[in-house]
Amino acid sequence: MGLDPGLSAVRDLEGFVASPGCRLGHPLVLKALTGSTNDDARALAHQGAGHGAAVLADAQTAGRGRLGRTWTSPPGDNLYLSIVWRAGLDRVDPPLLALGAGLAVSEALDEYTPSPTAVKWPNDVRHGGKKLAGLLAEAIYRGTNPSAVVLGLGVNVRGDAMPAELAAIATSLRLVRGADLDRAAVLRSLLDRLDATLGALCADGFGAVRRRLLDRCETIGARVTAGEVTGTAIDLDPTGAIVIRDDRGAVHTVRSGELR
Ligand code: BTN
Repeated sequence: MGLDPGLSAVRDLEGFVASPGCRLGHPLVLKALTGSTNDDARALAHQGAGHGAAVLADAQTAGRGRLGRTWTSPPGDNLYLSIVWRAGLDRVDPPLLALGAGLAVSEALDEYTPSPTAVKWPNDVRHGGKKLAGLLAEAIYRGTNPSAVVLGLGVNVRGDAMPAELAAIATSLRLVRGADLDRAAVLRSLLDRLDATLGALCADGFGAVRRRLLDRCETIGARVTAGEVTGTAIDLDPTGAIVIRDDRGAVHTVRSGELR
């Protein structure tokens, strides 16, 4: 484990450090404050960090979301975690890994919610229509081949009120379950489930992971708009792209971006 000055901010995570048998998070660099854990993990990857190395911060000053958005990252309550993933990249494309990671996070967070969480394609994790967690996956290439994918996770854990500007669209595990909980336990669940689900994806392909994702993907069956296309989301194709049938019956495949 790497130590950072101001570690007292993440004292409650020491339980995790003592926790045996966890296969991801070696080393785990704990930071009281950083710009973005994704930037830190990317730097570690460029320096040659191995599969499973991770950076966890109590707060971020420049947390990044998908599509160039900011990820609000106040101290004390949440998890801001970035993992260097290197396994299986010769078999699984980075977008599919990112999709599998969303499934893993959703399954892990179910341990802490009174009813199951859902995935909004591609990988937002939601409960009651509000966002609990988001994932920013960034691939690092050597030539034309990915040598690592940084899986950056932001999870709203212990906040008992969301900032006013987010209250309508985001929630926390604490708000959903109505009781406080342990960040270290949530961290352990996330790392274990990411290891298991992404390990299975790399070993066995998308088939079983796709079925699990379809079971909890709230986008399937919903009316959606992607760019110029509006219709009903009907499926995930074998590459993880979302399949939309428009009102004329034409079928469109959307590989990335945001659905409205
Ligand atoms: C999204 O839903 O737009 C993705 C949000 C991802 C946020 C996490 S917090 C830890 C890691 N570091 C970052 O700068 N971003 C990711």
